Amino acid sequence: MKLITIENLTQGMKVAKTVYKSNGSVLLSEGIVLKDSYIQKLKELDIKQIYVYDDELKGIHTQDIIREDTRNKAKMIIKNIMDELNVSSNVHIDKILIIVDQIIEEILSHDELLIKLEEIRAVDEYTFGHSVNVSVLSIITGACLGYTKEELKELGLGAMLHDIGKVRVPDNILNKPGKLTEEEFHEIKKHTIYGYEILKTIKDISETSRLIALYHHERVDGQGYPLSIKGDEIHEFARIVSIADVYDALTSDRIYKKRIKNYQAVEYLLTMSGHQFDYDIAKIFVNNIALYPVGEGVLLNTGEKGFVIKVNKDFPTRPVIRILYDSKGDRLIKPVDVDLMFENSKVIIDTVDDIK
Ligand SMILES: [Fe+2]
Repeated sequence: MKLITIENLTQGMKVAKTVYKSNGSVLLSEGIVLKDSYIQKLKELDIKQIYVYDDELKGIHTQDIIREDTRNKAKMIIKNIMDELNVSSNVHIDKILIIVDQIIEEILSHDELLIKLEEIRAVDEYTFGHSVNVSVLSIITGACLGYTKEELKELGLGAMLHDIGKVRVPDNILNKPGKLTEEEFHEIKKHTIYGYEILKTIKDISETSRLIALYHHERVDGQGYPLSIKGDEIHEFARIVSIADVYDALTSDRIYKKRIKNYQAVEYLLTMSGHQFDYDIAKIFVNNIALYPVGEGVLLNTGEKGFVIKVNKDFPTRPVIRILYDSKGDRLIKPVDVDLMFENSKVIIDTVDDIK
């Protein structure tokens, strides 16, 4: 299967991964053949891309780091908590504790933790999907740092709720498409303090989990907010979550900007590590990211185009590519698989959304 942008969908393509609506119900089931009316519906819901079956990639599967239903359940739970907080200050977090446990179990069940978070979601659902991704990315990083399960739970829970304070920031500021005024930005910054205050009222949450909400916009050089603390003064959990937060924001479509590619986001994190981000944690973090995940379309320096079909874990820039187009742009009669580990003259120069 391959990920394809909505503009390039055509009638007759077969859905390879179920697409859900924001309320958790199924919009398009796996196996369904696309009609124009379905494509129209996806556009109306502002879904940017979906997985479709593809003959050239038959038999090649991408492995999700957590199950689709776990992800959807987690999103619904966060949505419910935020809805609850809008009407009362009493929230029940037992469900979220259970789902964080489930996510940790699923993550730890993989032997190779190479992350590919190509989630299908509508742009307006950003907050919920983002919270789940930040939690998953943080747990994986914590696992690489040798955290105990108890520590992973505190980290995962705090990461899941890191932006909970946004419920107290007015919607018109939060979703403003244009540039924020100074006062508006000042208001947005307060979501860190609001989040900490909200979590303070919940007794089943540890202080370290709460600190994630308070510190996740602090930067190691002291240029963050709300307290402008530096380096080790920022709890390690928050130093992890700040990296996961920025990475997921950069690689997601937002109302006001398009996502950037995995390898560009990794480059950004590495450039900023030591200044904005903890150098050692950033290094561990990027080691777990699939720069060119399976199913991604790529362009080589030779002009050839194809799909990544296998990742070489220790050499993230040199995966195995199934070449479909030659350097002149002509379609090969029979695709050729090339392992970049053994083809030193070939390098990936870019990713391509839709190969044709
Ligand atoms: Fe935030």
